[in-house]
Amino acid sequence: MPPTLVPAVHREVRLADQAEGELAARHFEIAEVPVPEPRTGQVLVRNRIMAVTAAMRSQMTGIRLPMASFVRGEALWGSAVGEVVTAPGGGFTPGELVQHPCGWREFAAVEESRVRRLDGDPLPTAAAHLSQGATAWGALRRAAGVRPGDTVFISGAAGGVGSMAGQLARRLGAGRVVGSTGSERKAARLRAELGYDDTIVRGAGPIEQQLRRAAPDGIDVLLDTVGGEQLTAALAVARPDARFALVGALSGQLGGERGAIAPVELDPGLIITRRVALRGFGLYAHPDLPQEWTREFGEGLRDGTLVFPHALLKGIEQAPQALRELTQGRHIGAVLVEL
Ligand SMILES: NC(=O)c1ccc[n+]([C@@H]2O[C@H](COP(=O)([O-])OP(=O)(O)OC[C@H]3O[C@@H](n4cnc5c(N)ncnc54)[C@H](OP(=O)(O)O)[C@@H]3O)[C@@H](O)[C@H]2O)c1
Repeated sequence: MPPTLVPAVHREVRLADQAEGELAARHFEIAEVPVPEPRTGQVLVRNRIMAVTAAMRSQMTGIRLPMASFVRGEALWGSAVGEVVTAPGGGFTPGELVQHPCGWREFAAVEESRVRRLDGDPLPTAAAHLSQGATAWGALRRAAGVRPGDTVFISGAAGGVGSMAGQLARRLGAGRVVGSTGSERKAARLRAELGYDDTIVRGAGPIEQQLRRAAPDGIDVLLDTVGGEQLTAALAVARPDARFALVGALSGQLGGERGAIAPVELDPGLIITRRVALRGFGLYAHPDLPQEWTREFGEGLRDGTLVFPHALLKGIEQAPQALRELTQGRHIGAVLVEL
């Protein structure tokens, strides 16, 4: 690969204002700044592709999260893939493809310990490294323990996690897979391409009623990324010994009313009498999982048994718009920005 030419300045996206309600252009600032000079022990990376995620919407509000919030006046950050330009510590070679957490800027000086080498890696595209599939895989396998024949309900089925989870539930032998989404247009694609037998649509009637129709014999597993009414409905149709993996709270995060919280009423009587296991899942608590997932994902992509649904916007100036479109539910799968 020819050496990357390093310009004097590059662009980064900063948090201009903490976000409440609808995201708008005024919440972001695109700044032109000098390309950072890497210190010994750092790697200068030319970013090629980055992800935007629902968690970033919450990080813009200052509410408490497992990860740090964005700081007004500073660049946002998140997973990105790029190539090494220089590495004064000698731990990396110019031209190597790497993943690291300093997206939202064209060039990044990153501590070597936070940089993961991707060369020789089993995934066929750089974009695939930005999939949320590891979370879906871990939640279904490790938290819920999907078994052959299970009926699985996945809330937020068209999101980065959910668009992989339907396919993965199938791969693990689920007998019936039901997903929820925000529109019939997305529901049709979930059924046609992404492993879902049936779908329920937010806003098209009471969730519990739709879920009873889609899963008439009840559910064995829930992978919940939404919380609120969808979690209550899942409990109402849970079979004995059902396993629920709780992963996210999109209805609170993107519904915009209660920050990251998706308030929910759960009947303890149902949890007890049906022996329902509720288990929170956090990818950060499974450091070995990304490697296991990358192997599985690489095999599936190569033999055509898995697909990676994603939208790709082009140019760092499109990154704020990409996050806005994600919160508006415009896309299916991961939302990525090519830099
Ligand atoms: N625990 C972990 O380790 C972990 C790891 C990764 C992600 N997460 C969490 O998992 C959740 C899902 O992540 P993701 O990347 O799949 O999300 P995502 O793709 O960013 O979610 C975007 C989707 O959310 C849906 N949505 C928008 N407003 C909604 C509302 N009011 N109620 C319900 N859904 C709404 C929209 O789809 P529709 O229009 O189809 O509804 C939209 O396309 C998030 O809460 C995220 O923070 C957790």
